[in-house]
Amino acid sequence: MILENLLLEHEKGVATLFINRPEKLNALNRATIQELHDTLKTSDENPEIRVIIITGSGEKAFVAGADIAEFAHFSSEDGAKLAAKGQELLFDFIENMKTPVIAAINGFALGGGLELAMACHFRIASDNAKMGLPEVSLGVIPGYGGTQRLPQLIGKGRAMELIMTAGMIDAETAKNYGLVNHVVPQTDLFATYMTLANKIMRNSPIAIAKAIQAVNANFISGINGFDVEINAFGECFSTDDFKEGTTAFLEKRKAEFKGK
Ligand code: COA
Repeated sequence: MILENLLLEHEKGVATLFINRPEKLNALNRATIQELHDTLKTSDENPEIRVIIITGSGEKAFVAGADIAEFAHFSSEDGAKLAAKGQELLFDFIENMKTPVIAAINGFALGGGLELAMACHFRIASDNAKMGLPEVSLGVIPGYGGTQRLPQLIGKGRAMELIMTAGMIDAETAKNYGLVNHVVPQTDLFATYMTLANKIMRNSPIAIAKAIQAVNANFISGINGFDVEINAFGECFSTDDFKEGTTAFLEKRKAEFKGK
């Protein structure tokens, strides 16, 4: 696969995807969204890849938003199609992947950039990061799931304020709001996500995939998350990972889980 807007590094089970348009602060154009989709899909299917990190190239930006130059002259119909296609290919896609996806926010995460980070399973940030959904300053609203996921993560009142003011919050405020889990100096971002990835990789990939599915069910209207949890819990009992995990515990040794 030839990647024009991404860099992919794969080291000991961890795939790191760098969005690589630093001269445009890694703004998400349609080509980048397609490449992200293709690379994430392949990575999700690759049993060797146990954790995926999404971050931005350079020291300034994670992603400074959807590419404004690309949609500036769109009609209503084009705009709705852009949002629908982007949500399907990237934002909803990530949320429902079986491999854990962590956003490592290394600078500006604005608009589509923050929406991308929010679609990941959780987020860490460097201390220079700035986050916001400034779309209303451009005369549009967030279109990649921001109006839904921001209130889920930080509560309705805070989300309303951030969206209406088109403001930015710093990394510490984002941590206080529960938007990011950890804030570290930029030079420590790599070590921090590798430590988290290594902890995740000690555990059953199959159980993790089912846990993602059950947690996500809480946010789908019309679905009873408790029922999803009960079914997924039961399914775990017929997996090799369950046999290995429980046997290893009883034999007082470290579990050796197979791939996804
Ligand atoms: N879409 C397209 N291009 C973008 C972009 C975006 N979302 N964000 C930044 N860029 C481009 C700039 O146009 C500029 O390109 P140029 O050098 O060809 O003129 C380049 O990235 C550098 O950005 P610049 O604005 O010069 O950097 P800055 O340090 O002065 O400001 C920001 C940084 C993030 C505050 C500013 O770039 C910004 O407000 N970006 C848009 C954020 C936004 O509204 N996102 C939501 C989009 S829906």
